[in-house]
Formats: sequence, structure tokens, C-alpha cells
Amino acid sequence: MTAFRDLRQYIELLTETLGEDEVRRVEGAGWDLEIGGITELLAEREGPALLFDDIPGYPTGFRVFTNFMGTAARCAVALGLPADTPKLDIVRTWKDMSRNLKLIPPVEVAHGPILENILEGDAADLTIFPTPRWHDGDGGRYIGTACMVIARDPDTGWVNVGTYRACVQGKDRLSLWMLGNRHARAIAAKYWDRGQACPIAVVVGQDPILSTAAAMAAPAGVSEYDLAGGLKGEGIAVLHAPGTDLPVPAAAEIVIVGEMPPLEEESVLEGPFGEWTGYYTHQGQETVVRVRQILHRDNPIILGAPPMLPTIPSGDQAVPLYSSTVTWDHLEQAGVQNVHGVWGYARQLMMVISIKQTGAGDAMHALLAAAGRKRSGGMERYFVVVDEDIDITDINHVLWAVFTRVDPSESIHIVRSPTTAIDPRLSPAKLAAGDLSMGIVLIDACKPFAWKDQYPRANRVDETYRAELRERWKTTLPL
Ligand SMILES: Cc1cc2nc3c(=O)[nH]c(=O)nc-3n(C[C@H](O)[C@H](O)[C@H](O)COP(=O)(O)O)c2cc1C
Repeated sequence: MTAFRDLRQYIELLTETLGEDEVRRVEGAGWDLEIGGITELLAEREGPALLFDDIPGYPTGFRVFTNFMGTAARCAVALGLPADTPKLDIVRTWKDMSRNLKLIPPVEVAHGPILENILEGDAADLTIFPTPRWHDGDGGRYIGTACMVIARDPDTGWVNVGTYRACVQGKDRLSLWMLGNRHARAIAAKYWDRGQACPIAVVVGQDPILSTAAAMAAPAGVSEYDLAGGLKGEGIAVLHAPGTDLPVPAAAEIVIVGEMPPLEEESVLEGPFGEWTGYYTHQGQETVVRVRQILHRDNPIILGAPPMLPTIPSGDQAVPLYSSTVTWDHLEQAGVQNVHGVWGYARQLMMVISIKQTGAGDAMHALLAAAGRKRSGGMERYFVVVDEDIDITDINHVLWAVFTRVDPSESIHIVRSPTTAIDPRLSPAKLAAGDLSMGIVLIDACKPFAWKDQYPRANRVDETYRAELRERWKTTLPL
């Protein structure tokens, strides 16, 4: 069971476990670019989590929290692990947990702090919150960057939770951008086919387990609430937003409730928004939420995870939990022998797999299986397989393998595979034609199996001696 029930308890736990310097209170930064800029500059150097308060123009206590899982230590705390858990062990633990996950449904409660303020009618005003404009090219103020969008299937009662970017489009209007295969879009279409608007709740400010579960691709019919319950070891406490049958976390910070009419009835120009690829891509007429009600706690906290260049550890990417574990799990299910670890770089743009080779075909099997998992909507571009002596959590070590164990004329293979509509390398002509095909590269950076035992020996201080040196010199040198 995690030691926190909501975002506030997570912030307290981070402070207690990692110290005040790891959770910095920042007073006086402005909503227009300043919060976003400070967040990015500190994320670039794996700096602290940031709690912004006294945002000019807004009441003291209306806060923004960013860089919430920006280091391995913060990821470990979020998952209930010791803060010094080695990076690959965090991923391994998450993989094992996810595989054996028991779904635990949410627990309905009558009261919760989210009901401290219920704003309806004219009072339901989104502009009371200090929503940041994160980057200077953004086409608006995005309140939902790590939000939970909740919709209920009108036929089956299944409650879906997804993360889709949400922009404040006026006092009582919010836009959502959902790619074509997203579950909330499919649910909304069922209401629209019946000539109805789709009831929707957007949660801004929840703990990191809920945030992580919301972005997981649970199959249709499985609620991400049940996944989050399983990951936490107890059902999520939810209550129904007054007047709806939409369950929302009882201890969320802000919940925006409304209806989403069909696009033909109402839409709004959405974007551009700097995306996780590091580029502005999609902009277009998108769905709106007609806001009917806003619930918020006293002194609410917006949880912000602004997209940054994928090489910066932001959001949950200091440890690439999701991309690594899904691929690792897939490799094992596909019968790839002796997978030592999987690590996703730059989100999932480069997937690195380490194996202990037992036969001549193992490396290629691993590459093909990993590439086979990639689905439309994924943007994995480079797949690299290395031997188990390579520390795949260290990019320099991976590059050493690529530079010295690859014969480019025989170890690199290029094939084509579907990418995502926000891939910046898709030409305008291909996008317009709906052609999402893109090259992907498979790199075998293992020592060739046939003569791996004759491969030249590495002149690197070995792991055992490293540990010995660290122990002996621990009070004197930062080894
Ligand atoms: C921080 C973050 C932001 C995201 N933003 C969007 C978005 O704007 N639009 C979208 O379609 N998917 C977005 N996603 C991906 C979806 O949340 C993810 O694919 C999720 O599994 C979708 O849920 P669903 O399968 O229930 O629709 C985002 C993911 C994360 C982690």
C-alpha cells in the first residue's frame, strides 16, 4: 500500500524522505511562461520538484506543482520503494507488479475534500486558477497536462480514465485533444450517435499512481481506476461529482465537470501545444467541454507536467516506467530468452534491451519481438540490443556498445512501421494522405555470438572493484 492517499500526502512524503531541497517552494513566479521556464530549466539538470505559490494575480494558496517524478528517487518514492533503489530495479519491480496486478475497484465514499468548494452556474469559472502558459508558442493556457479525463460508457457502465491535454478556452469552456483511437473519444461517439452530449469530468491534481494509471492503455472495458487500485493495494476513494454518475477521486485537487457536445455542434481551435517530441505539431478544430460545475479543495494545486524535449527527464520519464515495462513484458511473453533489462530513452524513441546471449539468434529475436510490439500511435524509432555487461540505464555505456560492437554493414537493419500523427518527420504530403509509415532501425550491438568469448577484453574498472572502492573511500571521494 502506498504511503500517500493524495497529491498533498505525496508532496509531504517527498519532503520527509528526500529533504526540503528536493521539493522547493517557489513564491512570486508568474503564470505566463515563468513557471514553465523555471520548471524546464530545473528539469534539465534533474533538479527538485517545484511547488509554486503566491502566483501574481491569484490568491495565496492557489498553487502549481511540477517535476513531480523527475528523478529516479522521486519515482521510487511514488512507487513505495526505497529512494535509493537502482534505476533498473525500479523498472523490474514495476514490471513484476504490473504483470501480477490484481484489479481493485474504487471504493465509493460520501464525502471528501474535493467537495470543499462546489462552484456552479456563473461561479463555475476556470479563470480563477493560475493555469500556466508553459511555452511561448502555446496556443493557450493548458490546465490539463497530467490530468485524468473520466467518461462512462452509456451501454456497459465501464468508466474510462485517460490523459488528454486540456486547454482553458474561456470562463466555462475547456478543449480536449484526443487522438482517434482514444477510449474517451469512442465513448463520446456513443452519446453523439444518440444525439446527446457526453458527460465528462476532468481531474487536475491527483497523486502519481493515479497519474501513471491514467496514461496506461488498459483494454476497453477495464477501468484505469481498478489498475490504480491494484498498484496502490487498496481501492481508490471516489465520490460522484454532484448531479453526475462520474466517479472522481474524493481527494483530488480540482475537478471540472461538464458535457462534450458533438464536434458539428460546437468545436474550438485547439493548439498548437509544444508536445513531448519537442515540437509543435497538431492544431485543429477539437472537442469542447461545456463546463457546468467546478469542484476544488481549499488551496488547490494544479499538477503540471508540461511537455519538454524528450531528452529531459520530466513527468514520469526519469525512469521510463511504462515504455520499458511494456516492452520487457512483451519480450518475455514472446519467449525471448534471458532478458536482463529494458530501458527507454527519450520517452520511447530509443528502446535498449540487454540480454544474456545463449544462442546465435537471440539478439535478432529480441529486436524483432521488441519492434513487433510497437503499434500505430507509438513512436519508437531505434531498437538496440546489447549484452548484459552493458549498463543500459547509462547512455554513455550504451553508446560505447554501439560504437564498438556494431559492424554497420551487417548489424543494422532498417524496416518500415507505422508512427504517430505527431511525428515531426512525417512530411505534410504524407500526413495529408494519411500515410503514417516511417523507417525504424534495429541495431544489434551484442558481441557476435559465434566468437563472443574471443571478443577483446574491456579495460574498464569492473563492478565488484567499483563497489569495493566506493566503500573504502566513501567518506573522502564521491565515487
Ligand atoms: C502527460 C501525458 C499527456 C498525454 N496527452 C495526450 C493527449 O493530449 N492526447 C491523447 O490522445 N493522448 C495523450 N496521452 C496519451 C494517453 O493518455 C494514453 O495513450 C492513454 O492510454 C489513453 O487512454 P485511453 O486508452 O483510455 O484512451 C498523454 C499521455 C501522457 C502521459
